[in-house]
Amino acid sequence: MKVLITGGAGFIGSNFVRYLLNYGYRINVLDKLTYAGRKENLKGVLKEINFLRGDITNPKDVDKAIKRKFPSQSQFSLLSF
Ligand SMILES: NC(=O)c1ccc[n+]([C@@H]2O[C@H](COP(=O)([O-])OP(=O)(O)OC[C@H]3O[C@@H](n4cnc5c(N)ncnc54)[C@H](O)[C@@H]3O)[C@@H](O)[C@H]2O)c1
Repeated sequence: MKVLITGGAGFIGSNFVRYLLNYGYRINVLDKLTYAGRKENLKGVLKEINFLRGDITNPKDVDKAIKRKFPSQSQFSLLSF
């Protein structure tokens, strides 16, 4: 299953990324990297996910995050933190 996690560089999001990786999920992260978000929170798993810096309020960023490495016809779930 493919999942887009927004806020995935934050406290809850980055822990949830690790949790889902253990279950074999393929993960795209969209995060604006505000004061609360840090790429270091994803240390050790960055090679296993697609990370995109962007804003969930920007439709172009969301579009990019959805399409990145996802075949156009595939379904995905969106989890937002
Ligand atoms: N060690 C700890 O116990 C600890 C550490 C950090 C946070 N917390 C607590 O955990 C709770 C929730 O943490 P959280 O992970 O939900 O919040 P968070 O603020 O840690 O993470 C939110 C994430 O969303 C991202 N983000 C914000 N606006 C965005 C936007 N417009 N588009 C894309 N990304 C955006 C941020 O960059 C960040 O990575 C809070 O109560 C916080 O105080 C605890």
